[in-house]
Amino acid sequence: MLKQTPGKMGLGLLVCLVFGGCASTATAQTQASGTSSTLYKRLGGYDAIAAVTDDFIGRLAADKQLARFLVGLSADSQKKLRQHVVDQLCEATGGPCIYIGRSMKTAHTGLGITESDWQSTVNHLVATLDKFKVPEKEKGELLAIASSLKPDIVEKK
Ligand code: HEM
Repeated sequence: MLKQTPGKMGLGLLVCLVFGGCASTATAQTQASGTSSTLYKRLGGYDAIAAVTDDFIGRLAADKQLARFLVGLSADSQKKLRQHVVDQLCEATGGPCIYIGRSMKTAHTGLGITESDWQSTVNHLVATLDKFKVPEKEKGELLAIASSLKPDIVEKK
C-alpha cells in the first residue's frame, strides 16, 4: 500500500530520526523493502552479545595455548578489550554501537598469532554459540564475520 517514492521514504525516515516516534513507519518501510531483521536483533540484542562475548573471552583465558596473549593485561585493560569486542560485534551485526578501537591489523600485528591459535579461537567461539543455543543460520553469519577478519589477525602458518 506504500506508494511513496524512495526519495519521500528517505525524507520520512529522516523526519522520524530527527523527531522520533515513527516506529510504525520504519516497520512499514522494512516490510516494504523486504529487509529481514538485523543479525543483532536476531541474536537478542546488546545483552545477548555482551553475554556471548564474556563467555567467549572466558574460554580464551582458560585455554593454555592462548593464555600467553592475555597474561600481563591489567584488569582494566581486560575490561577495555572486552568492551571493544562487544562494540565491534554489536556494530558488525547491525546494532546501534560504534566501534572506536583500533583496526584488526593494528591491534594484532606483532602478536605472532598462528593458524593453530586461530583454529582454537574459532572452536571456542563455536562452543560459546552452541552453549547459548544460537541457531545454525545466525551461527554461520557470525562465523563469516569472524572469518572476514582472519587475514588481518593471523600472521603465521
Ligand atoms: C574473530 C577473531 C577476533 C576478533 C573479533 C578480535 C577482536 C579484537 C579487538 C576488538 C581487540 C581490541 C582492539 C583495541 O584495543 O583497539 C583485540 C585485541 C587483541 N586481540 Fe583480538 N580478535 C580476534 C582474534 C584474536 C586471536 C585469535 C588472538 C590470539 C590468539 C587475539 C588476541 C588479541 C590480543 C592479545 C589483543 C590485545 C592487543 C593489545 O591490547 O595490544 N585476538 N582483538
